Amino acid sequence: MDQPPLRKRITDQFSYRGERADIWRAFDLLLETDAFLNLGYSEWYQPHVVGSSQRRLVTEVGARLASHLPATDGVRLLDVGCGRGGPAIHLADQFGFRVTGLDLVPYNIERATENARRKHVNTEFVVGDATQLPFRSDAFTACTAIDALVYLPDRNSVFAAVANVLEPEGVLVLSDLVVQSDVTETERGYVDSFADAWDMPSIGMVEQYTAGLEDASLELETVENITSHSVGRFRKWTTLYLQLLGSPIRSLIERLLRAYDLDPTTITEQVRAAHRALPFLQHVILVAKAKAR
Ligand SMILES: C[S@@+](CC[C@H](N)C(=O)[O-])C[C@H]1O[C@@H](n2cnc3c(N)ncnc32)[C@H](O)[C@@H]1O
Repeated sequence: MDQPPLRKRITDQFSYRGERADIWRAFDLLLETDAFLNLGYSEWYQPHVVGSSQRRLVTEVGARLASHLPATDGVRLLDVGCGRGGPAIHLADQFGFRVTGLDLVPYNIERATENARRKHVNTEFVVGDATQLPFRSDAFTACTAIDALVYLPDRNSVFAAVANVLEPEGVLVLSDLVVQSDVTETERGYVDSFADAWDMPSIGMVEQYTAGLEDASLELETVENITSHSVGRFRKWTTLYLQLLGSPIRSLIERLLRAYDLDPTTITEQVRAAHRALPFLQHVILVAKAKAR
């Protein structure tokens, strides 16, 4: 049977609709997914899946912004693919940015607005498409996209849109999942199956990101590989899950998932697809600057 269009698949999974949303509902049992939806960041001595690894990734992004800007207090920041607002709220709260978050999925924007209201943090959230940003030219000094562009088939259009809304010498910091450039056809197949199982478009290479930034007149400043702090540690959890499924406690795990109204078959398929692909993926932070005009 034909799959529904990608946007519908993305909207459904992040709105808790359909079987592919179960993986996020399973993460809900361990993580703060009502506010954060990224891969997280943990040094070796910090807990990864449990605890605040997703907030820590935002701290890392905020620190990159702070080191490329003269100041952060009151600075206008656009968070593209803001999800449920955790990153925007954290960047406003910890660094003093005046943040606007934009996301394709209305459910996420409702949650983000509610999260900011409950935390008494002054942020603005709008439903919109990252390829057609509804803001005037030069509206922002800073822009972030935290593990969001991996969901966009046309990343180059996002870079062009970001270049337009960033003022000259404004800073973009993005984190994302990319595929290693030297993978074999079989390995690329694992990565494509993972993307399909998680309702993502084809995963890009870092070289495609850097070329896209350059085409949009965004000057690349740094590329950092943070894989060992996120993807590498996430794979420990996929390993553990699959080992437990191969052990006598399999039926206990499946019963537990069903008790939370989660479908063990779909979740296991998604974890298996991720487990096979993770060795060929990298997590990177890129910093780029809009050129002076
Ligand atoms: C993995 S989540 C990351 C969310 C958030 N940045 C965070 O760190 O919690 C990816 C987000 O990208 C959003 N997204 C996907 N396609 C988009 C588009 N075309 N325009 C805007 N947002 C989009 C999704 O709705 C989702 O909230």
